[in-house]
Amino acid sequence: MHKIGNLKLKGELFLAPMANYNNIAFRTLAREYGAALVYTELISAKGLLMKNRRTEKMLQVSEKEKPVFLQLFGSNPLDFKKAIELIEKKFPQNFAGYDLNAGCSVPKAIKGNYGCTLMKNASNVGQIISSMKSSTNKPISIKMRLGWSEENFLEVAREAVQNEVDAITLHPRLGVLGYSGEANWEKIKELKKEVNSKVKIIGNGDIKKPEDVLLMKKRTNSDFEMIGRSAIGNAFFFKQANSSLMNKKIPLKSFDELKKEMNKFFELAEEFNLGPNDIRPYLLGFVRGLIGAPVLRNKIGVSKTISEMKKIIQEYFLNYS
Ligand SMILES: Cc1cc2nc3c(=O)[nH]c(=O)nc-3n(C[C@H](O)[C@H](O)[C@H](O)COP(=O)(O)O)c2cc1C
Repeated sequence: MHKIGNLKLKGELFLAPMANYNNIAFRTLAREYGAALVYTELISAKGLLMKNRRTEKMLQVSEKEKPVFLQLFGSNPLDFKKAIELIEKKFPQNFAGYDLNAGCSVPKAIKGNYGCTLMKNASNVGQIISSMKSSTNKPISIKMRLGWSEENFLEVAREAVQNEVDAITLHPRLGVLGYSGEANWEKIKELKKEVNSKVKIIGNGDIKKPEDVLLMKKRTNSDFEMIGRSAIGNAFFFKQANSSLMNKKIPLKSFDELKKEMNKFFELAEEFNLGPNDIRPYLLGFVRGLIGAPVLRNKIGVSKTISEMKKIIQEYFLNYS
């Protein structure tokens, strides 16, 4: 049995937190296709305390997608404590654990002094973890990069471990580099060697083909592997990647599978009352690479309702059946 802290997990592959993508429908779909754990997109610890309506919607969780980790961002340790206490009081059953975002490198994060810029101050990261731990018995994890502009992931990891973090996700690129260059998996191996076996290491970055999960595990000794961009519009990737982990033949994604996945996605979007803007990003990911993708993209880009989007996709399926 795989575990993070006291949480038992049924597999080793996780859906990465992704802003504007990880809504309740995508997360549920990813679980159906074999993700063992899913994350919310990043949510402001401070924003939670202000009871913002958009933030409240982001806290919606379905039974089918559990376990879910809530990812929080911010920089003040006290905000994290208060935010988790609030969630535990209001929605004690929703989340299986909490994750600290120390990896985001978008301009907003730099300006707001959160995300990867937190890594500039390792002791503050330690204080945030300690604050998070003090507000719940559930597992606490951190997701980080190699550092902001200079590599210091081992220093930050030590602080997190000293404060009893349960898991560390490493996306091995510097924050200033965004997504350029390649994820340096050697660093995941270094991190795994550094920490004791109680702290689980989640390898992340550039899992582009299903076979890459096994490759990452072998090369780095990671306990879990986290998949981001490859799952956008393609939750089936989890099924393929799980086969790779089990050394089984990787199933090909057939046209029927494509239809099945999309129909399920629409069903979930309707079940959870999502709006067109919630699902548009996933759909744009879905059409990537299809015949006539630019036309589909334009149509989806301007459609105003989910039923309009559904019609566009269904017509596409009919045309090419
Ligand atoms: C559109 C998008 C949104 C993202 N949002 C978040 C986020 O909210 N929190 C976070 O920790 N990382 C976020 N990330 C980073 C991913 O979780 C992941 O670390 C990164 O994409 C590398 O993994 P991959 O190569 O499998 O995509 C985001 C990435 C993308 C592409």
